[in-house]
Amino acid sequence: MTTTEPTGAPAAPGHDVTDLGLAAEGLRRIEWAEREMPVLRSIRERFSRERPLDGVRIGACLHVTTETANLMRTLQAGGAAVALAASNPLSTQDDVAAALVAEFGIPVHARRGEDRDTYYRHLNSVADTHPTLTMDDGCDLVSLLHQERAGQVEEVLAGTEETTTGVIRLRAMAADGALGYPVIAVNEAQTKHLFDNRYGTGQSTLDGILRATNLLIAGRNIVVAGYGWVGRGIAARMAGHGGHVAVVEVDPVRALEALMDGYQVLTHTQAAAWGDLFITATGNVNVFRREHFAAMKDGAIMANSGHFDAELDLVALREMAEGHIREVRDNVQQFDIGGKRLNLVAEGRLVNLGAAEGHPAAVMDMSFANQALAAEYVVQHGASLEKRVYGVPEAIDAEVARLKLAAFGVELEPMTPEQAAYVASWRHGT
Ligand SMILES: NC(=O)c1ccc[n+]([C@@H]2O[C@H](COP(=O)([O-])OP(=O)(O)OC[C@H]3O[C@@H](n4cnc5c(N)ncnc54)[C@H](O)[C@@H]3O)[C@@H](O)[C@H]2O)c1
Repeated sequence: MTTTEPTGAPAAPGHDVTDLGLAAEGLRRIEWAEREMPVLRSIRERFSRERPLDGVRIGACLHVTTETANLMRTLQAGGAAVALAASNPLSTQDDVAAALVAEFGIPVHARRGEDRDTYYRHLNSVADTHPTLTMDDGCDLVSLLHQERAGQVEEVLAGTEETTTGVIRLRAMAADGALGYPVIAVNEAQTKHLFDNRYGTGQSTLDGILRATNLLIAGRNIVVAGYGWVGRGIAARMAGHGGHVAVVEVDPVRALEALMDGYQVLTHTQAAAWGDLFITATGNVNVFRREHFAAMKDGAIMANSGHFDAELDLVALREMAEGHIREVRDNVQQFDIGGKRLNLVAEGRLVNLGAAEGHPAAVMDMSFANQALAAEYVVQHGASLEKRVYGVPEAIDAEVARLKLAAFGVELEPMTPEQAAYVASWRHGT
């Protein structure tokens, strides 16, 4: 039995989860996800043999989901001591948190719906384990270490970062000379953002909105703010369900791309009066604001799939509806602004995690394979890296894609020696 097999007996490490009694259900769901994660599984098998992370203490701040549980098992199989806190107060799956503690002996500090103070207390509990490697989704753990526990920064060899928003924050830190250790931007692996942000978020955002609202998408006017990897995925899925999709962008190239992909391109002001459903995916703040809420139709629905709950100006929305806010369904709050009812899904937090289960495991298989291989890479190379943000080495990206293709049973066409020589040479012309 490897250290990652369920022990059945609570190892009861320091933890703070909602209910350890949920562990059996969590274990069932973790094992279900595992079946869809062949790449991570093969890495776990290799890690168990080679133990590349022996002696490493990993502090992780990730969404506590079934897929993350399988990443934690992989890191543990590699020899790491891992501690996990949630990277969002609403995304924790309490049964998974319980199973990680009770079945795998992993200290988890996460409760679904935790308040801000608890969220930061949990991050501090992870920091208390003195990580030598940080694994973040949104840069909150890195920020905490740098801003409030600066003495610990030098204990950290390196870090990894999962999402676009976190990478932006890390680059800002590096530009200020404030980043105290190297970080690998896992988000920048092609086998991450091309698939996770686009197909994973596209599908799971639709899933979250449908679970929460049971809305018929066909025939509806859907506004997607932001046409990055996430926005492209959401727009494609909404159009696939028969929605009329309009995109709002601030970047001219992305706006043009959206137009040529067949969508309308509108300003926020134009979109406000037109849309039935608004989805933000910009990584920016206050994308829809007071003046837009005032212009929206009665019954409009808003959801956010960007990392932070700052994309909709919720302060303004609450002020506009003061005293007239009610829960109308699970995960749907209704704001009555002078007789007009606006609906907000999952409190404006990541809708795919707040109202559904996050990305399907088959997509997280690749993102988390990158995480596991990036962890191995920084343990091998961290000492020679500078204090800046690095992309994922191409060899890791290619390896993840190769393993995923193999899992699909797809064979890759090799180049002939003649072709390899041709594309490598600058001497060939017409
Ligand atoms: N929900 C999830 O599970 C999930 C998964 C991956 C990424 N994310 C998050 O989603 C967000 C977007 O990620 P991405 O990879 O698509 O990023 P991206 O940088 O590729 O795209 C963001 C797009 O938003 C546009 N934008 C910025 N401000 C805008 C504004 N005010 N109005 C309209 N458009 C604006 C940008 O021009 C850009 O094209 C990030 O916060 C990221 O962390 C969430």
